[in-house]
Amino acid sequence: MCGIVGYIGQEEAIPILLTGLKRLEYRGYDSAGIATVSHAKIEVRKIPGKIHNLEDVIKKHPVSFSTCGIAHTRWATHGAPTQENAHPHVSCDKKITIVHNGIIENYLKLKTLLIKEGHRFVSQTDTEVLAHLVEKYYKGDLKKAVTEALKKTEGSYAIAVLSTEEPDRIVVARQDSPLIIAEGKSGSFAASDVPAILEHCKRVVYLKDGQVAVLEKDHIEVWDLNGKKVSVKFEHIHMDAESAQKGGFDHFMLKEIHEQPAVAKKLLSSGLKELKTFRFPKKIDNIVIVACGTAYHAGLVGKYILESLCGLPVWVDFSSEFRYRNPLVTKDTLLIAVSQSGETADTLAAVREAKKKGASVVSICNVVGSSLTRESNFVFYTLAGPEIGVASTKAYTAQLLMFYMLGLEFSRSRRTISLGAYTRAFKILNRVPALQLEILKSKSAIEAIAQRHHHVGSFLFLGRNVNFPSALEGALKLKEISYIPAEGYAAGEMKHGPIALIDEYRAVVCIAVSSKIYDKMISNIQEIKARSGKLIAIATIGDKTIKTHVSEIISIPSIDEFFSPLLVALPLQLLAYYIAVARGCHVDQPRNLAKSVTVE
Ligand code: AGP
Repeated sequence: MCGIVGYIGQEEAIPILLTGLKRLEYRGYDSAGIATVSHAKIEVRKIPGKIHNLEDVIKKHPVSFSTCGIAHTRWATHGAPTQENAHPHVSCDKKITIVHNGIIENYLKLKTLLIKEGHRFVSQTDTEVLAHLVEKYYKGDLKKAVTEALKKTEGSYAIAVLSTEEPDRIVVARQDSPLIIAEGKSGSFAASDVPAILEHCKRVVYLKDGQVAVLEKDHIEVWDLNGKKVSVKFEHIHMDAESAQKGGFDHFMLKEIHEQPAVAKKLLSSGLKELKTFRFPKKIDNIVIVACGTAYHAGLVGKYILESLCGLPVWVDFSSEFRYRNPLVTKDTLLIAVSQSGETADTLAAVREAKKKGASVVSICNVVGSSLTRESNFVFYTLAGPEIGVASTKAYTAQLLMFYMLGLEFSRSRRTISLGAYTRAFKILNRVPALQLEILKSKSAIEAIAQRHHHVGSFLFLGRNVNFPSALEGALKLKEISYIPAEGYAAGEMKHGPIALIDEYRAVVCIAVSSKIYDKMISNIQEIKARSGKLIAIATIGDKTIKTHVSEIISIPSIDEFFSPLLVALPLQLLAYYIAVARGCHVDQPRNLAKSVTVE
């Protein structure tokens, strides 16, 4: 997810663009850039890193005064965060420049065709293709050229385009990536999100998919891709800039919990396409997964997935343990490193240790160009966009989904799954975004349960089989943002110790979704009830049995147990979130924690 801003009006563009970018920094901070047009010349300044780096560059190398410009803050999806890959991108003739948020999925095919026609590329990004396409179709009408170019593309985009030939306008367009436009006192604006322009205008138009708009300093017009003019509806914005960055949610964590269906949908399309380019090594006879924290829990689910689908022994280890154990790793080991940030010191060290022993290394990572990705033989990007909340949520379910897709693709290449089973599995996975959305719609019931339990002194989370790691993750979510002592446990282990903890002062969250070991979970619940433990159950909608045992029930849509961690994670995240909020904790930046543990 990137952020784009455009402005054309009576005032100098640079200060407006830079302020707007800062309000969008939560959308990505790998690189930043601006382009302005004046005296028939495009001037571009761009640099890797945060927006203050761009401000320094502009101070050192000022651009001429201009009242028309576009700007971009990048979250890399294709091409590491380098100078060449930073936006804006420029056409060969230097007359067109563009900024883009989204993924052009057919960019390689278009790039090949454009290179054959003589276009010279300077970056590895998908976006640069658009600059050359608009140049190719430009015959004196920028809106027409942009429209023609977009008709050739597949994928998602929110773009802003400038041309030296038409310095009095900006052309913008959107498909599957958000873009708003607005008329303010000082001119016309475009931005990926409201915070960027909130101080200039309170009435905005949310562009719809397939719409192209032309911004001039005193008015805006909108067309569809067939060149038909579209009437626009302005909407009033009732929020301040800070809450707007969180999309109207109280915390980044809650916003990111709600982004999970969209992330899953994107992964099941763009992510799967990338995954299919991976050539699975033939000689692998064992798999090792290394990670920390939430990523480690994703790895534990990954073990269930890969062992059952691929018929290979899978061993999961904390990175911090793996690196000091002298691990049994050989050249026939496939090591999978899981990390949202790609900068976790222990995981990087574990990868280096495994490479020294000859293992092939792949990573499941969310940050393009991070250290881990540069040390992996192949990277499966989770495409979750920036995760600002310290407690990992959307990255976790994206990691899980990546494991399911990886396991299915690997099992096909090893012929350990029939085409029918493979197809049926993807049919289930493709329903996950809608099922996750259904859970989010019932969040008020989860909030009410949290309100009734936020004072409880300690929690136990119990799960079995593929949801044992879900129990561990639920406990970690709660403890790290509410500071309540919480422990995740394999439910079958209750009699081997934890049952001694059960009394009326402890809450026990039981993951009792429909499964082949459901009756075992009911027995656990009965044992807890007999000892006056406070019970909260996560169960399947329509389950009548659970109601006879537990009064506090969070119901999730029915799904095959094997895939249920993809849904179970959401009520666990929401329960932790609402309890922490009820306890007045700093949810996005919990005490003592950092988003990425880059030191041992
Ligand atoms: C999860 O909510 C925590 N913030 C933490 O456990 C995190 O998962 C762990 O530090 C690993 O981070 P990584 O995924 O960036 O490697």
